[in-house]
Amino acid sequence: MKLFGQSAPMNDSWIQQQLSEAKAQGLERAARAYPEAGGVIKIDGKEVLNFSSNDYLDLGRHRHVMDCAREALDQYGIGSTASRLVTGTLPIHEELEARIAKEKGYEAALVFGSGYMANAGTIPVLAGRDDLIFADKLVHASMIDACKLSGAKLVRWAHNDVQALEKRLMQYGTSNVRKLIITESVFSMDGDIAPLKEIAALAETYDAMLMIDEAHSTGAFGPNGAGLIRELGIESAVTVSMGTMSKAMAGYGGYVACSSDLRKLLVNSSRAFIYTTAPPPAVIGGALGAMDVFESSPRLGSILQANADYFRSLLHAGGLDTMNSQSQIIPIAIGENEKALAISQKLREQGMICAAIRPPTVPPGTARLRISITLAHHVDHLDLAAKAIISAVKG
Ligand SMILES: Cc1ncc(COP(=O)(O)O)c(C=O)c1O
Repeated sequence: MKLFGQSAPMNDSWIQQQLSEAKAQGLERAARAYPEAGGVIKIDGKEVLNFSSNDYLDLGRHRHVMDCAREALDQYGIGSTASRLVTGTLPIHEELEARIAKEKGYEAALVFGSGYMANAGTIPVLAGRDDLIFADKLVHASMIDACKLSGAKLVRWAHNDVQALEKRLMQYGTSNVRKLIITESVFSMDGDIAPLKEIAALAETYDAMLMIDEAHSTGAFGPNGAGLIRELGIESAVTVSMGTMSKAMAGYGGYVACSSDLRKLLVNSSRAFIYTTAPPPAVIGGALGAMDVFESSPRLGSILQANADYFRSLLHAGGLDTMNSQSQIIPIAIGENEKALAISQKLREQGMICAAIRPPTVPPGTARLRISITLAHHVDHLDLAAKAIISAVKG
């Protein structure tokens, strides 16, 4: 018998090979530690403008949000200590779900450990091996992974192209299987907005379910930050409104809003809901605190959008291409990976964090700087940043 540690070493040269290939293509990544989180941070005592934070409403250190997180921590302790179906469900999980359902305009809601898990736990319940999923070409990786998990046939349609979607629905629509259309309301890497009304109308015409990922529109659009489904009043045509607590809610976790029956089915069959520990009390408390702020300061989203409009106008005046951005997410088209990295590095040296987003997060040849405007950024920050970005891209 061979004891552990005595067998021949595994040939792991493939690891080195994969790493060098990624490096050669300008695709190597590293998770670097920052001393602080948020839109304006201090590094080595110097103020740095962070345009890569998703804390759009600057709630990460909001006193009320932190107080709510702290109260939940004090009341329940650090963890929920079990999965939701065992003893992990606490009154604040139920309170948050009722609150999300009410604000989003649905009968019910279900909280997951993260946005990734909300997608991974919901899509495979909506569609199975014999079914069809119609996904916008640019939907987030968590949705694509969820589609793979479901085993359903995945049909892609050109980004935000309603005619392309209809063509696909006509092509496959006669088969007697469940059909699910998935898209995002504000796209995470492009900052553009899906034609949700038209997509909802097609879902009704072709008897398809519709799931919309509102990760980047929650807090940033809609009444009390409830997102674009609510703003457009299309809740009845949208089977599932998905979102995260990790962007404008400044914390961590994900959720879906849906019918009471679908929630019941998810509770009974969603693996990402059942086979994991319930989200910890402090993040749930923080999410409730963020929803209080959405309600007490309903104009935050429109101020954010006005600031984003202003920033885009500065970039356009400097001749930059912000693709089809219509939100607080503003991509600046660059193209080559190395060039995007070099510009990002140059800006970093000037005290600005503007992440270079490269494949596979975005399609090959479309590397870009992705700017997130947050309420931590004031007008003078925006003026300064626009000037520096224009000069770095054009120079
Ligand atoms: C569109 C979209 N959906 C889902 C997620 C996953 O959310 P989370 O970070 O909460 O897992 C993200 C971001 O990470 C996202 O951008």
